[in-house]
This record gives sequence, C-alpha cells and structure tokens, in this order.
Amino acid sequence: MTTLRSTVDTGSAEFGANRDAMLEKLAEIEAEHAKAVAGGGEKYVERHRGRGKLLVRERIELLLDPDSPFLELSPLAAWGSDYRVGASVVTGIGVVEGVECLICGSDPTVKGGASNPWTAKKSYRAADIAAQNRLPTINLVESGGADLPTQKEIFIPGGRIFRDLTRASKAGTPTVALVFGNSTAGGAYLPGMSDYVVMVRERAKVFLGGPPLVKMATGEESDDESLGGAEMHARTSGLADYLAVDERDAIRIGRRIVSRLNWRKQGTPPAPDYAEPRYDPEDLLGIVPADLRTPFDPREVIARVVDDSDFDEFKPLYGTSLVTGWARLHGYPVGVLANARGVLFSEESQKAAQFIQLANQVDTPLLFLHNTTGYMVGKSYEQGGIIKHGAMMINAVSNSTVPHISVLMGASYGAGHYGMCGRAYDPRFLFAWPSAKSAVMGPQQLAGVLSIVARQAAASRGQEYSEEHDAAMRAMVENQIEAESLPMFLSGMLYDDGIIDPRDTRTVLGICLSTIHNGPISGADGFGVFRM
Ligand code: COA
Repeated sequence: MTTLRSTVDTGSAEFGANRDAMLEKLAEIEAEHAKAVAGGGEKYVERHRGRGKLLVRERIELLLDPDSPFLELSPLAAWGSDYRVGASVVTGIGVVEGVECLICGSDPTVKGGASNPWTAKKSYRAADIAAQNRLPTINLVESGGADLPTQKEIFIPGGRIFRDLTRASKAGTPTVALVFGNSTAGGAYLPGMSDYVVMVRERAKVFLGGPPLVKMATGEESDDESLGGAEMHARTSGLADYLAVDERDAIRIGRRIVSRLNWRKQGTPPAPDYAEPRYDPEDLLGIVPADLRTPFDPREVIARVVDDSDFDEFKPLYGTSLVTGWARLHGYPVGVLANARGVLFSEESQKAAQFIQLANQVDTPLLFLHNTTGYMVGKSYEQGGIIKHGAMMINAVSNSTVPHISVLMGASYGAGHYGMCGRAYDPRFLFAWPSAKSAVMGPQQLAGVLSIVARQAAASRGQEYSEEHDAAMRAMVENQIEAESLPMFLSGMLYDDGIIDPRDTRTVLGICLSTIHNGPISGADGFGVFRM
C-alpha cells in the first residue's frame, strides 16, 4: 500500500493553536491583498468609473472564460515600499477560449498606470513566466508610461519589456495588445511589438510624443486623435489590426483572436481520471506549528495535496530528514522533495541529488516543499564532507531541466533555500504559505553571530565590551531580521510569486502543472561534475 496514512489529531489543543495562528496570519495577508484590489483608492476608482471605464480586474474577468480560475501572480509586489501594494499592474494566468494565457493589465487608477520600479520587476517576472512555460501573452494597456520621478530605475532596464515581446513572438507564443487608453512614448512599443493589436475607439492614444511634445520638437500643431487615435491607427497608420467600439468589444475581439491561435500544448496530457486526496485540505491550517522550531511531518501535507493521497516514497529509510517520492497531482506525475526535520545532512543531500537525476531521466516535474534550517554545521559534519554533499544537491537542482515548483511551508534558511530550489534556482513557480520564513539564517542565530564577532573584535582591540550595548544590538538585529524574513516582505520584493492559503495548495499546483505543460518537459542531458 502506498496510500499515506495521517496521524494528525485535528481535535488536539496543539492543532487548534496552530490553526488559530495560521488563520491570524491569513487575515493579515488578506488585508494586504485588499489594498492591491483597491488600486489607487476610492477617489481614483470613482473618477475612472465616471469616465465610463472598466477597472483592470473587471477587464480581466470579462476576458477569461466564464467561471474559470485566475492565478494572480505577485499581488503584494511593492509591499513595504513607497508605492501602492500591487505595483500598479495585475499579472496572472487565466484561461481564454480554452487557452492558458499570461495576462498583464496596467491599473490606471494608480498614478495613471505609470510603471514604477516594482511594476517593472513584476512585468519582467510575468514575461519570464510566459517564456518559460510557452504561454501566449495578452497585455491590457492603459498606462502613463514610466513613473517619471523614478525614471532612472526603469528607463534603461525597462527596454527588456519590448525585447521580451518580440522574442515571445519569435518563439511562437503570440502576443496580443488590447489598448484601452494611454499608451504613449515608450509605451507605444507595447502595441508596436505585439502580434495583434486592438484599439478602443476614442479611448486608445498611441503616439511617440503627444501634441505638446510635437509642438516643442517641430512646431507642428496637432491633436490626440490625429496623432494617435484608434481610428487613425486602424485606417491610416495600420498599427491597429482591429478597431473596437468600446472596452467590451475590445475584450470580445481579444477572445476571438485567441480562439484562432490553433493552440496546442506540447506536454503530455494528465491522466484523465484521478482521485482527490483522501484527507481534507482544511487540515492544512493546523499542521505547521506556530513556532517553526517544532518539526512537522511533511507527509501530512503531501497526503492532502496529491491525488488519492498516494505516494511512493523513495529511500524512506535513508536520509530521513528529507522525504522524497513519486505521486500524481491533478493527473500530472510529480516527484516530491520535502524537508522533514529541518536540517539537511550529507545523506539527505546525496539522496536529493540521486532523486533529482531520476526525475530528469524520466522527464518528471519536481515539487520542493520547504521547511529547512539549512545544511548541518559542526566539526564532524565538515569532516564528513557536508560542503561536498550539499554541493551535489545544488549541482543537481541547478542543472536539472525538468520544471520545478517550490512551496515555502515553513523555514527556508541558508543554503538549504538554494538546495531546495529557492528563487535564484529558477523554479517555474515559487509560492509561500503565511507561515513561511526565509533568510540567510534565523534571527537569533544571526544576532548571536554578530555579537560573537563584535565581542572578539573588541577583545582584539583591547577594548571593554558593553553587555548593555550588546543586548540592545541583538534585540534590534533580531527584530530587523524577523521582519525581513516574513512572507509579506519577501513577496513585496518579488522573491516569490505570491502567498497562498495552504488550503489552496493543490489547486494552485494543479494550475501551475497545467500551465507548465504548454511547453515540452525534458530532463537534463548532463549535470556539472559531481564532487565525490
Ligand atoms: N509618472 C508619474 N506620475 C504620473 C505619471 C507618470 N508618467 N502619469 C500620471 N501620473 C500621476 C499624476 O501626476 C497624478 O498624480 P496625483 O493624482 O497624485 O496628482 C496621477 O498619476 C493621475 O494622473 P492624471 O493625469 O490625473 O490622470 P488621467 O487619468 O487624467 O491621465 C495620463 C492619465 C497617463 C493620460 C496622464 O497622467 C499623462 O499624460 N501622464 C504622462 C504620460 C507621459 O507622457 N509619460 C511619459 C511616458 S515615458
């Protein structure tokens, strides 16, 4: 029997306390998500509506197939910065005429939809997702272009947005621009570089320079419509392929365009019949302890995420701090690597390296479930070759070419974050639970290391070391590192693709796996030299 058997006691006080802590964190995150949904705030939303325009999320909803899901990405981008949460753009994956598309819509209620440095980062990430997963792109355009006060951070790197569009086209993934409003200066290249362009009559404005700039440059008198109106582009310049009478018509035309793409996914389709997990995903709220130092069994998570709770564990008796094994998820085969007791030893590292190679041998995507404090330190471990063995795991994860998905359930510290396919290792998707924390090490350890270093430095200078000062420094550093390890902070920096409700994990992973299968799945031809 390979069906996982749960031993979670959902009636225990411990489970209840974990659940309460998770629900509290979820409520905090929901409040931040609400800020993103509120866009530029009531005043700007009302003004936008008063102009007879749809909000960006309404445009997206109308574009998608009825009742189909939308996996919004990086909704908390710019959290903790001077800019509004969400970074004035909405990105995500949604189904249009049965085709999974990458959708990117500027939010004109936030500073006229202008792109600040976080908007740019979020747009780059969206373009990477489209490229890696072979998705058509639909841009919903209405933006004041670069956020002028921060242009130095956007103008030069931001050129890649237009480069990415034409490279997507070359790669055979069509790009569609639906222009609802302003799209001037650099922004004019959004439609300019797209395969299909739809413009809304009397609304779309697409020109390299508006009337004042033209007057300054050449002395010519002009007006918006003759310089860049939708009618002009549809009848005269030829930049618009379709003239829409209003926003809904533009969305309708966009859907027709996608329906004619003759889209075929290149990955193997999922098994048609699969069973739901045997355990209630609701239990996922109470599995992660509020205090991450308390270990938990990731099989309890796997049992609530994979089809039929069916899991063939690989090497179950060896390197037991890391659980590895095979499962299916919404009918897609997947290899799972999940931390069990936090620390990664040499055995776990070698087991991971072997398992990753096996997945590559048979073209199976990998799922990394993080809860690690990193690789083991100490004399006997160093002498036993922990660096070599950790390097084997990092080599395998870096050179593996099957798609990876990471979920940060709890801790994701130190090089353990790397070995488990952290952001820098290019997982196709990386999501965090509200319980996640990630940093170079834990706050107390980091403050303690700084304290020891400072104490030794004072001693070598022959100076007194103030214990009072040390305690204050440690408290300050601990607070800072704790705050910087939290998922909202990391999501704000675009280090993940979003914070998800643990109960949604199976659905989110199912959407991701389906998305990934737009492209071919193929394992690595070789790896770096494994240091033995
Ligand atoms: N950079 C920074 N802030 C911008 C901006 C930009 N590119 N475009 C607009 N904003 C700000 C406005 O200053 C205003 O801020 P406030 O409400 O705090 O005063 C807010 O966004 C809304 O702008 P507003 O002009 O009132 O909105 P609108 O819907 O009537 O017009 C635009 C929107 C985009 C048509 C108009 O703002 C505009 O033409 N912006 C400049 C476009 C441009 O030339 N950009 C350079 C491209 S590289």
